[in-house]
Amino acid sequence: MYITDRCNLECEQCIYKPSISHFINEEIHLTNALGLLKSFRDLGASKVTFLGGEPTLYGHRSGGRPLLDLIDGTRALGYEYMRIDTNGQRVAKLLREPSFQKMDEIAFSLDGFSADTNDPLRGKGTFLRVVDAIKTALEGGYFVTITCCVQKLFLERDADGVLALERMIRFAQELGVHQINFHDLFKVGIPMDTWTGSFAPEPVDWIPVYRELREKIDAGTFSIAIRLPQCFVTKAEFARNPGYYGYCPVKLGERVMVHPNGTIRICSNLICTAFGVARYADGHIHWDRTGANELAGHDMGRLTPCTNRSRHRKYGDLVPVCFSFKPGQEEYVWNHRLEWETNRIPASGSQYA
Ligand SMILES: C[S@@+](CC[C@H](N)C(=O)[O-])C[C@H]1O[C@@H](n2cnc3c(N)ncnc32)[C@H](O)[C@@H]1O
Ligand code: SF4
Repeated sequence: MYITDRCNLECEQCIYKPSISHFINEEIHLTNALGLLKSFRDLGASKVTFLGGEPTLYGHRSGGRPLLDLIDGTRALGYEYMRIDTNGQRVAKLLREPSFQKMDEIAFSLDGFSADTNDPLRGKGTFLRVVDAIKTALEGGYFVTITCCVQKLFLERDADGVLALERMIRFAQELGVHQINFHDLFKVGIPMDTWTGSFAPEPVDWIPVYRELREKIDAGTFSIAIRLPQCFVTKAEFARNPGYYGYCPVKLGERVMVHPNGTIRICSNLICTAFGVARYADGHIHWDRTGANELAGHDMGRLTPCTNRSRHRKYGDLVPVCFSFKPGQEEYVWNHRLEWETNRIPASGSQYA
């Protein structure tokens, strides 16, 4: 749930940049937010992430109380897992609030292992402030994770041949967080390519780096959980196991994103476009019956490479898989609901379980 379109940073790579505004429908009003959460809970939802914009700014005109009321109300609705994605620039006071302590996970965004590698993306001074907040949250007993964008620089090696991506993992490990979750920044022929800066690696350079890191992760080299997106596979590999690589939240109906402007959408690749699956207004959710329904673009009965990343761009021998395809991930929905890895469809299968 993108509860606010307001932010106190202007990150160069921000996926949400065109929506950041302080003007119209800046926030999902608390009553609407809890009404929607009740509807989704009735439909079976059990995990919610609050983000935005910067969710710690939610209800700032009322001294921040609405965020705490939202957390209390969400728990009261029976949600089993509540998470917040924050830039960590002003959370010290919140971390001491009993209502905030009900959060199951605080995910801090950190895009480098030093001010030199983080601040060009997130802004001057952000590295020191977020690292400070991470330490405070850990001291306070929170379950703390880091979300980190894989910028081009992470594919470079130091004098000892160590990938900067690995240095990022080791930095997270030293901080003592429980998990690091990587997001990709590839340019894949979608609208956000035009505003997400110049930090994108090339797919072909990613493949060997992914393999190297995946081997180390699988060999137990690191002591924290790592969610590393595979992003691309060869066409032959996809054809061998479409039931595995064809994972798609749109086809699974696995989640939705809710925005302050009334849009309900599934695929993050369509953020800041007119596409979605539904809209909410006047306390009701209205299914989108127009051509702007994002489902219209999908072949819902077939397991394919990522629809939105393969529509306008080709990658030679590679095909894109969902950016959320992160093998072996220790994630609430996977462990308790999807059991994705254990229920994987045999290579010959082409239907959903
Ligand atoms: C849009 S932010 C909102 C929450 C909060 N403001 C923050 O930065 O954590 C949610 C997450 O998306 C990540 N993100 C931003 N731009 C992105 C992009 N172009 N591709 C992938 N992830 C991105 C951010 O780093 C952050 O971890
Ligand atoms: S802090 Fe989050 S929402 Fe704000 S600009 Fe950065 S990535 Fe975007």
